[in-house]
Amino acid sequence: MIETMGDLKRTHMCGVLRKENINEEVVLMGWVQKRRNLGGLIFVDLRDTTGISQIVFDEDISKESFEKADAIRGEYVIAVRGKVYERQSKNSELPTGDIEIFAEELRILDKSETPPIYIKDDDDVSEAMRLKYRFLDLRKPYMQRNLKIRHKAAKIVRDFLDEEGFFEIETPMLNKPTPEGARDYLVPSRVNPGKFYALPQSPQLMKQLLMVSGMDRYYQIVKCFRDEDLRANRQPEFTQIDMEMSFVDIDDIISLNEKLIYKIFKEIKGIELNLPINRMSYDEAMKRFGSDKPDLRFGFELVNITDIVSDSDFKVFSGTVKNGGEVRGINVKGYEGKFSRKGISKLEKYVKTYGAKGLAWVKITEEGINSPIAKFLSEEELKGIIEKMGGEKGDLLLIVADKPSVVFDALGHLRIEVAKTLDIIDKDKIAAVWITEFPLLEYDEEEDRYVAKHHPFTHPVEEDIEYLETEPQRVRAKAYDIVINGDEIGGGSIRISNSELQKKMFKALGISDEDALDKFGFLLEAFKYGAPPHGGIAYGFDRLVMLLTDTENIRDVIAFPKTQNATCLFTKAPSDVSEDQLKELHIDVDLD
Ligand code: AMO
Ligand code: AMP
Repeated sequence: MIETMGDLKRTHMCGVLRKENINEEVVLMGWVQKRRNLGGLIFVDLRDTTGISQIVFDEDISKESFEKADAIRGEYVIAVRGKVYERQSKNSELPTGDIEIFAEELRILDKSETPPIYIKDDDDVSEAMRLKYRFLDLRKPYMQRNLKIRHKAAKIVRDFLDEEGFFEIETPMLNKPTPEGARDYLVPSRVNPGKFYALPQSPQLMKQLLMVSGMDRYYQIVKCFRDEDLRANRQPEFTQIDMEMSFVDIDDIISLNEKLIYKIFKEIKGIELNLPINRMSYDEAMKRFGSDKPDLRFGFELVNITDIVSDSDFKVFSGTVKNGGEVRGINVKGYEGKFSRKGISKLEKYVKTYGAKGLAWVKITEEGINSPIAKFLSEEELKGIIEKMGGEKGDLLLIVADKPSVVFDALGHLRIEVAKTLDIIDKDKIAAVWITEFPLLEYDEEEDRYVAKHHPFTHPVEEDIEYLETEPQRVRAKAYDIVINGDEIGGGSIRISNSELQKKMFKALGISDEDALDKFGFLLEAFKYGAPPHGGIAYGFDRLVMLLTDTENIRDVIAFPKTQNATCLFTKAPSDVSEDQLKELHIDVDLD
C-alpha cells in the first residue's frame, strides 16, 4: 500500500548523521539500497544524494513497521521516523558508519519494480543500458558526485566572474550561422517558409556585438551545437563557459583566466597550480610534441633527424626528404625491453592510421643495436641518429619519414599511445600550458584557399600584418588555447575591431565583400559605430569537468548526453515527425 508523507517532515539527509546525533529523533526519506532480514531484525540501507544510513526495524520497537519493512524491496521510496543509536558493529567505510536508526514508524511512499540496472558504481553494465535508463544511472553515487562537481565548478565560475565585473547575458539559440567551422544544426522557420535558423556553434558574434554595445565584460555558461563527427570528448550539444572583455590585450585575458583556473582546481581538487601557467608557441608545441595540444605529463619529445639522413642510401628516408618531407623520431627512453617485435608492429599499425607509411625503429640493447633499418644506414648515419636522439642503452627509437603534417600527427599521437601502453602517465598530475601564436590561416586543400584557423575575426600579431597579402602562411594570430593534460580545454583570441584590417583579412580568406556582408553584415555594420578593442575565450565546460572528476568519458559529466551517433537512447531523439508538421514547414523528406 502506498502512503503519503502525511505529517512526517524530513529532518536530515541520509548521509549526514554522526555520533553527535545519537539519541536524536530523526525523520529520513530516500530510496532503499538494500534490505536484509535477520530474523527478529530487518536492516535497510537508505540512500539519498548525500549518502546512506542504516535503518533497523525491530519487532520489539514497532511490530507494524517491522511487518511493513518485510515487504519493501530495492528502490522503494520510504520515509522513516526513529531514534539514532550508536552502532553495534561499526562500518568504517561509511561516513554514517558509527550510527544506526531504530525505526518507530515506516511509510512506503512508492514502490519500485526490479530495476534493469543495479544502482551501484561497480555495476559493469553496457553504456547503452546506462543511457537508456539514465534516470536510474544518475542515482549512482559516481554520477551524483560528478554532477555535484559540475554544479560546484559552475558556481565558482559565476561567483568569480561576478566579482570581476562580468555580466551574465543570454544570447539567442535561433540564429544565423556562426563562423566556428563545424556543420550547423538547422531549424526550419514555419512563418518564413524555406528559411532556416542555425543553432549557435558558439555565441561568438553575439558576444562581440555586446562589446560594441558597451557591456564591457560578458560571460555565459551556454549550450553550443556542432554537427561534427563525435569522439570521446565531443558532444553534438556541449556547454561553453564563454566570455568576452573590452579594452584588453592577450595578457589581460590570460591573467584573469589563470586566476579562474587556479580557483577551480584549488577549490574542487585541492590542487594549487603554479602561476603564471607556462606559455608555448604553436610552433614549439608542434616541433617538440607533434601537436598543438601537448600532454606535458611525460617526455618522448620529437627529435628532427632530417639533416642526418637526407643523403642516406636508405631511400625511405632520403627519398622523403628530397620530396620536401622530414624525418623525425621519439626516444622511448629506458623502455626498449617493454616492446617486443609484435609490440612494435602494433605501434606501426597505429601510426599508419595517421597516414604514416611505416615506423622505423632502433633498439639499443645490452647486446648492441637491434634495428631492421641498420643495414640500410651508414655507420655514421646510425651514430648520428642515436646521438641526436640522446640514445643510450635501454632506449627504443621510433622514427617516421613523411610530409611534415603526417610526421607530426603520427608521432604526436604515437608518444601518447606509447605512454598509455607503458602506463606511465601520472593521473594525479595537472599539466597546464597556454599555446600561443597560432597561425592565423590554414591552407584548405579541398577548397584550394586559405581558411581562418580560429575564425575570421581573429586579430593577427601586429608585426605580421604586413605579410597578410604576400605570405599569408607566416602570419601568426593573437589566439591562445589552454591545454591541460593533452586536451584543449579552451580557446580564444583578440578580435579585429578595425574595418580596414577586417577587409584585408576577408581578402586573404577569399571572402568577397558581398559574402562578408551576407554572413556577418550585422557585425560589420556595428563596427562602423565605435568598437572597443576586445577579445575573449571559451572553455569546453564538459571537458573541464572531465578533468575535475577524473573521467575520460564526456558522457559521465552530462546528465542527459547523446550517444556517438548523436541519439538519445531514452527519448529516441532524433525521430520521425508527422507529415503535417513537415507540410507546415514546407519540407519534403527524400531518403534516396
Ligand atoms: P572553440 O571552437 O575553440 O572556440 O570552442 C571552445 C572550446 O569548446 C570545447 N568544444 C567542445 N566540447 C565538447 N564537444 C564539442 N563538440 C566541442 N567543440 C568545442 C573545446 C574548445 O576549446 N567562439 C570561440 C571562442 C572564442 O574565440 O572566444 C570558440 O567557440 O574545449
Ligand atoms: P621497407 O624497406 O619498406 O621494408 O621498410 C623498412 C623499415 O622502414 C620498416 O621497419 C618500415 O616500417 C620502415 N618504414 C617504411 N616507410 C617508412 C616511413 N615513411 N617512415 C618511417 N619508417 C618507414
